[in-house]
Amino acid sequence: MEATCLSLIALRSVQPDALAAFYAQLGMTFVKHRHGEGPEHFSADLEHGVVFEIYPQKAGALPTTSTRVGFGVRSVNEAFQALIKAGAKVVSEPKVSEWGMRAVVDDPEGHRIELIERKRDADSRSARQVGRESMEAIRPTHVEVSLGTIAQNFDAIRAHVGKAEVMPVVKANAYGHGIVEVSQHLAAHGATCFGVALLEEAVVLRRAGIIQPILVFGGVVARQIPQFIEHDLMMAASSIDKMRQIDDAAAAAKKKARVHLKIDTGMERIGVHWYSAEKLLEASLSFQNIEIAGIYSHFANSDAEDLSSAKEQLARFLEVLDFYPKRSLKPPQRHIANSGGILQLPESHLDLVRPGILLYGVYPSREVKTSIAVKPALSWKSEVVYFKVVQPGNAVSYGGTWKSDHPVRVVTVPVGYGDGYFRALSNRGQVVIRGERHPIVGRVCMDQFMVNLEWGTAYNGDPVTLIGDGILAQDVADWAGTIPYEVLTNIHARVPRVYV
Ligand SMILES: Cc1ncc(COP(=O)(O)O)c(C=O)c1O
Repeated sequence: MEATCLSLIALRSVQPDALAAFYAQLGMTFVKHRHGEGPEHFSADLEHGVVFEIYPQKAGALPTTSTRVGFGVRSVNEAFQALIKAGAKVVSEPKVSEWGMRAVVDDPEGHRIELIERKRDADSRSARQVGRESMEAIRPTHVEVSLGTIAQNFDAIRAHVGKAEVMPVVKANAYGHGIVEVSQHLAAHGATCFGVALLEEAVVLRRAGIIQPILVFGGVVARQIPQFIEHDLMMAASSIDKMRQIDDAAAAAKKKARVHLKIDTGMERIGVHWYSAEKLLEASLSFQNIEIAGIYSHFANSDAEDLSSAKEQLARFLEVLDFYPKRSLKPPQRHIANSGGILQLPESHLDLVRPGILLYGVYPSREVKTSIAVKPALSWKSEVVYFKVVQPGNAVSYGGTWKSDHPVRVVTVPVGYGDGYFRALSNRGQVVIRGERHPIVGRVCMDQFMVNLEWGTAYNGDPVTLIGDGILAQDVADWAGTIPYEVLTNIHARVPRVYV
């Protein structure tokens, strides 16, 4: 699927109905939608599985934006031509600006529309687009991501947790799958909020047109607070002092800051300890410029077979939450469940769940029994670039750690630890070539590794599967002595992502 992201931003305040009526003249059929508590908006299905959406202005969310987001009217030029044909007047022809390709038109209804095709900088989806357009042709290695599979996994999780809201966790580049692509796809599919680790990740999402609530899990330093407020991002707070700073910054910005109280129930990472949380909860009621949108904790061991520690954490969290009914107050949104909690502790689902790894079709550990039918969304493919026969006694790769006592056919694959394919896979990992598993022999180099075919057949250009075709991220993790989370998040940005 073409994945160019085109934002349509109405520079003057307009009604979505008026804009939808106008674009209907271009042949788009709009349907009115509302996802959860989100605003009513219009959406039209275009070609290439692309969705075009028109949202009303959301106070505070996107300060200069009245109406926005077209996914994939594939280029500014294409949209510009269509608008001119429909009677729009040129204000500025398509040209490259500091934002990327940009054009401005006045549509016949008098709306000034800015068309932007985002610039391809190092961190954006567009950088991976460049990867797709140019490197795909050049480099015989890529990661394939099925956005449809991620959406199906999201649905399977939603069905499993019933009434609880599902917050897709898209930190660390959506576990290697592409933060912008995954989030835009899930937003169009009905996701009502997102979770990330860093302020920067949340800002990337806002710039990509994500208007849903975003919670940043990580600790906040004082200088970041104004940016959280400016971008209408929800932040974690675990001390009265931090709440005071947030309250002051919100007062200065004349806005309400949205906060989730973070309770540490046994992870010893961030959060106020459960045994001293009451004071924070009490104080949280008094800040004029803060909305307490949620209260949460995080499991340290929900992916273990022995759930006693996770159950203890949950009990501690529930004890903290007693604060609210005791004062006859409605609690804010309560959440603690990550993938392990979703799968193993239904009583932990509460008001919202935060799936990360499960969303991408991977179970958090071998100890968790399969109960939700999710499928892996990512595969990693390369090609054979060299074939040779290695004679007995001749060592393969750095350090000479592997030799054969008989002649063997060995092929070279152009992937290495510089791509995030662990060196720990040396003499341990396996790949699939022509439907067969074959072992990696010798050390994985920065950009290449070797595979022993014994006397099997392979030609230059034959596909090689590193993840997929029966090889799970969990298998690679086992061979490398790590966890599937690290396998996925470690895949380097230089590996082009292709969305199918
Ligand atoms: C606060 C928080 N919630 C949810 C998640 C998602 O965890 P998982 O990928 O195990 O579902 C994470 C990831 O570590 C996290 O830090």
